[in-house]
Amino acid sequence: MMFTLITGASMGIGEAIAREFAGRGHNLVLVARSADKLRALAQQLWQDWGIKVEICVEDLSDAESPARVYEFCHRQEIMVDILVNSAGLSHAGDFNDLPLGKLQEIMMVNMMAMVRLTRLFLSDMVERKKGIIINVASLGGLQGVPGLALYSATKSFVLTLTEALYVELKGKGIKVFAVCPGFVDTGFFGRAGHNAANIRLPISGIDVVVKAVLKGLKKNRIRVFPTLIDTVLAFSQRAVSRKTTIRLAGFFAAVKDDYMK
Ligand SMILES: NC(=O)c1ccc[n+]([C@@H]2O[C@H](COP(=O)([O-])OP(=O)(O)OC[C@H]3O[C@@H](n4cnc5c(N)ncnc54)[C@H](OP(=O)(O)O)[C@@H]3O)[C@@H](O)[C@H]2O)c1
Repeated sequence: MMFTLITGASMGIGEAIAREFAGRGHNLVLVARSADKLRALAQQLWQDWGIKVEICVEDLSDAESPARVYEFCHRQEIMVDILVNSAGLSHAGDFNDLPLGKLQEIMMVNMMAMVRLTRLFLSDMVERKKGIIINVASLGGLQGVPGLALYSATKSFVLTLTEALYVELKGKGIKVFAVCPGFVDTGFFGRAGHNAANIRLPISGIDVVVKAVLKGLKKNRIRVFPTLIDTVLAFSQRAVSRKTTIRLAGFFAAVKDDYMK
């Protein structure tokens, strides 16, 4: 039986994608740490849409967790034909102040778990000549963002990997693309200690990110930008110097005031 596996499905963008796909009749595997939230969501989606929903409670900062997620699917004879890598976290502040434990957690969840899950499920997709991988990257991955240095670097990593896979997998029946939202109203930045009130860009609703995912499914894009502002910011980089781009990214994110110098 075919399933869509979504990491970070307990809230925010991952949960919204789960709700959208459930409404379209996808069977789901929901992955995150919050067992209660996953259970409640699974119950609701099953009741509303009559789909199959499995939950897989894992801490993706644990290096072995992607293998356990894969094993879980294998044991239940779940074939994952769509993988959505949405789990992620950030931490606001100067890189030099980033606690080492947080550094490790951000890198493990944003990069390592995404890479390992992609590698594990991709093999089966290649064999079946069918599959879709959707990586939730960020506008922040288009350049370094002062105040979110490691986070922006992890999202650059996600984008770069996605780009290379897009070409490697062309003609093999597998679609890979990245969604690159700007600021989205999920509480994500608050959890990262980033004061959303200071952010100097509009904060979009989750619905626009879900629409971007649907657009990516229809069109042949490597990167999908959810809003017009995201698109303008991404492409206007070509018109200004790299230093200006990076300073502006710091200005818009506004983790601190002194990044425009
Ligand atoms: N919100 C934005 O403004 C924005 C903008 C651009 C890109 N993004 C990206 O979009 C993705 C989703 O963000 P969001 O806004 O939906 O954030 P969110 O509301 O904070 O949700 C993050 C999700 O990731 C899961 N997660 C975090 N750490 C995990 C861990 N160690 N193990 C397993 N799951 C973990 C969380 O589940 P548990 O806590 O239950 O484990 C939660 O389901 C992220 O990759 C983020 O970088 C967000």
